[in-house]
Amino acid sequence: MSKKYYLTTPIYYVNAAPHIGHTYTTMAADLVARWKKMQGYDVVLTTGTDEHGQKIERAAKSVKKSPQEFTDIVSGEFRDSWQRLNLGIDRFKRTTDPEHHKKVQALFLACKERGHVYKGSFTGQYCVSCELYVNDANQGDPCPDCGRPTETVTEENYFFKLSAFQDKLLKLYEDQPDFIQPDTRRNEVMAFVKGGLKDLSISRTSIKWGIPVPGEEKHVFYVWFDALTTYMSAVEGEDRWPADLHLIGKEIVRFHAIYWPAFLIAAGWPLPRKVFAHGFLLFGNEKMSKTKGNLVRALPIQEVIGAEALRYYLMREVTFGQDGNFSYDALVTRYNSDLANGLGNLVSRTLSMITQYRKGVLPAGPGNAEVADLARTAIGAVREAYESFQFSRGLESLWSLLSAVDKLIVENAPWKLVKSAEPADQAKLDETLYTAAETVRLASSLLYPVLPESTAKIWAQLGFTSPVAQVAADALDWGQLPAGQALGATGPLFPRIELQPAVDKMVELELKDKARQDALVGKAPVAEASNIAPLAPQITIDDFVKVDLRVGQVLSAERVKGSDKLLHLQIDIGEATPRTIVAGIAEAYTPEQMLGRKVAIVANLAPRKLKGIESQGMIVAASREGEKPTLAGFLEDVPVGARLK
Ligand code: MSP
Repeated sequence: MSKKYYLTTPIYYVNAAPHIGHTYTTMAADLVARWKKMQGYDVVLTTGTDEHGQKIERAAKSVKKSPQEFTDIVSGEFRDSWQRLNLGIDRFKRTTDPEHHKKVQALFLACKERGHVYKGSFTGQYCVSCELYVNDANQGDPCPDCGRPTETVTEENYFFKLSAFQDKLLKLYEDQPDFIQPDTRRNEVMAFVKGGLKDLSISRTSIKWGIPVPGEEKHVFYVWFDALTTYMSAVEGEDRWPADLHLIGKEIVRFHAIYWPAFLIAAGWPLPRKVFAHGFLLFGNEKMSKTKGNLVRALPIQEVIGAEALRYYLMREVTFGQDGNFSYDALVTRYNSDLANGLGNLVSRTLSMITQYRKGVLPAGPGNAEVADLARTAIGAVREAYESFQFSRGLESLWSLLSAVDKLIVENAPWKLVKSAEPADQAKLDETLYTAAETVRLASSLLYPVLPESTAKIWAQLGFTSPVAQVAADALDWGQLPAGQALGATGPLFPRIELQPAVDKMVELELKDKARQDALVGKAPVAEASNIAPLAPQITIDDFVKVDLRVGQVLSAERVKGSDKLLHLQIDIGEATPRTIVAGIAEAYTPEQMLGRKVAIVANLAPRKLKGIESQGMIVAASREGEKPTLAGFLEDVPVGARLK
């Protein structure tokens, strides 16, 4: 039985449709998977979608869909994309899958039974956008990841005793030095862990869209406890765990290299073997983001220049592990120089010479000894580069081999040799043609993980009817080309592309695709006119300043007995004692959601009694006729008591 190899990409959030960042990781994972298959491994590659949490709930609401409908659509976009880009995904796991729920609950119970979780109450600064509490942050601090203001949140949570795992984790990094790669990431993680670990909140009571915590009505699992477990639920019952490789982007190293092994050690379950974190793709040397609107998508690129051109470009241009810039111009330029001119030209030149000078039949080897040596060196270099995720270095070595053959062809000038009647010249011609064709065969085998479709075309042009043989490990040796084999039908592989029209076309398609995806996942639809209440009669500024609006912070919140609509709140607006306010928002907000929240208050409204409680003000909220209210809030942090004018 062949050895198993199990690798994963992150499971992607469904609040944004797939973009080139997700594609980058998934393409690299597909490359590794194909390479491992070539080495004879029985490989499984898993990806999927991360579908729970407040952000997704909100995104669904903004396009008037239920979370389930919404996640079905966006998850489908990911699955389709990977298919259209010819990425060989073996398992696609969604966190909404019931089998996954069971696994997350089992992990929790295993941690709980072994005494690693407890229930506590937590007040902290929370970034709603990143779904993260920000350690050591004070009120008003921005989120270190996205820069948005954090909110102060208090809630009952389950905690994981991460603080107890410092030594075990450090031992893991010492015992398995390549558990986290590259080394820069390993060093960062080790420094972080040495600085001490805080216990980790692993459940929420303020979110509904999540996996229920066993035995707890109000709690659902917090994103990372849920998401990471996908790596196991994706291969449940398959005897695949532990994973050999988690391929991820650098921003989620902490979760994979600290939380995940700690959860697994706590549960007594086996640990993955390696986490490799690559760098970020930038656009115009800036971070890509949905808010900036500068996300590049892969499908428009595929339509114009093909998925393999993109794949080659990403793997060749960017040093895997470091950040790199994506540019449409560089993509087309790289395609023209390396694929159209470099590889494509060598293949077509070689095959057309064999067709013309040897009636389309492959001559016998062993070929030019110097080039054979260079080829052996290149095989070693590529092998080592792929194994250590240095894809661009591997491709660079391969292209120097191609140039050496180009040089040999120019030096030996087959077009002159063919005219000579000397047997020595004819032998030299055979040697040159064999060397070129064998280099093409070998290079295309080494390139298969990067260009699976184009390399299959090259093998067919070389006359191989069973391309499978060319992806076997023993194909990676000089001298395999069968003498006497007739070439297959030849044709262009990588036609040259004109730079500007191609770039213009990609940008045009990109904008179209963005509009389509925005409609699916992003922009709130424009309100229907009929639903908007008529405007109130005009007022003057003097009328307006009579209304004293203040920033208040909710100190406590509870439901008003006997009412479905009302919440009884204590709100600090900077006065000596907090205000009691009764607000008709209970259908839209739970008391837990209100705790710590900053709201806008009408502070000089005459008090009035509601259900026997005197309300000393009103919370400002927006709603359309017959719809639930949405509280007015602040994007930046504001001090309690500030006046709205
Ligand atoms: N859902 C979490 C991951 C959970 S894994 C158990 C998540 N999702 S995500 O949609 O934000 O995807 C993040 C991953 O997408 C990164 O780690 C990386 O693999 C890829 N990329 C997203 N943007 C990227 C770039 N701009 N550049 C390179 N890869 C990036 O985090």
